[in-house]
Amino acid sequence: MTTSSAITVKPRHPSLGAEIRNVDLRRPIDAPTLQAIKDAWTQHLVIVFPDQPLSDEEHVAFTRLLGEPEVFHQTSLKLRSDRVKEIFLVSNVDGEGRLMKPSEPSQKQLSSSRQWHTDSSYRPQPSVGSLLHGIEISRTGGLTQFINLYQVYEDLPETLRRQVEGRRARHDFGMLHRITGAPAPSAEELAGMPPVWHPMVRRHPVSGRKSLFISSIYNDAIEGLDEDESRRLIEELSEFAAQPKYMYRHAWEPHDVLMWDNRCTVHAVTPHDPGERRVMHRTTIVGEPVIAA
Ligand SMILES: [Fe+2]
Repeated sequence: MTTSSAITVKPRHPSLGAEIRNVDLRRPIDAPTLQAIKDAWTQHLVIVFPDQPLSDEEHVAFTRLLGEPEVFHQTSLKLRSDRVKEIFLVSNVDGEGRLMKPSEPSQKQLSSSRQWHTDSSYRPQPSVGSLLHGIEISRTGGLTQFINLYQVYEDLPETLRRQVEGRRARHDFGMLHRITGAPAPSAEELAGMPPVWHPMVRRHPVSGRKSLFISSIYNDAIEGLDEDESRRLIEELSEFAAQPKYMYRHAWEPHDVLMWDNRCTVHAVTPHDPGERRVMHRTTIVGEPVIAA
């Protein structure tokens, strides 16, 4: 049992990201320790737990302490683990251990994660957070970058602020295959996940703070704007957001577990040599209603 007095929290960037040590996520965690982890998460938005060689079952069990794990709705591309259904596979290695080419359907779809996004924002209740376990990590790239969207919102130039206040953007899972060339989801998968409208400025239910809420890979329309104007606004907002002062760039070590808040951050991965194996397992916490701000 890890007690709260044992954990240490050390920021990794002035804006967001902190590491927590002296906790073993495979073992039972007492209530004060769990609260200390949640408080650090609220404050730092992205938590790095170094050196946590979790099994998938342990990964899911820890996720359950924070919320209900999501089960990815799309089965056609085998991005969901057959063995543990709550595990989403961020991997270029297939079930037989074979390295997959970037041209394979699942890899095309995963390539969308190089653009700024927040996981599962296409759901009526977007995800709360995600936990990603680096099993085989990349040394040639594959950094996961995070942006603090509270700060971005607070610093938005007036011209951009006016365009997002009180406005909604549409999030569509079906946009993924249009931007990546991956095969279209089945009619059933598309029907099960119709596009949804979410406010572009939201209030975090725990911190009470306002943040921007956008996605380069799912936003296909914005209220009152045509298609080109919508795309340009998302690009402009993303460009403003992607400043080093708002960004933590995570260089992976084997068995890092990263936990991020999807309600106030966006993330994107940098390219890496496709000849290098990269195996990561993710859980995603089921969402809650978006609070417009
Ligand atoms: Fe993601």
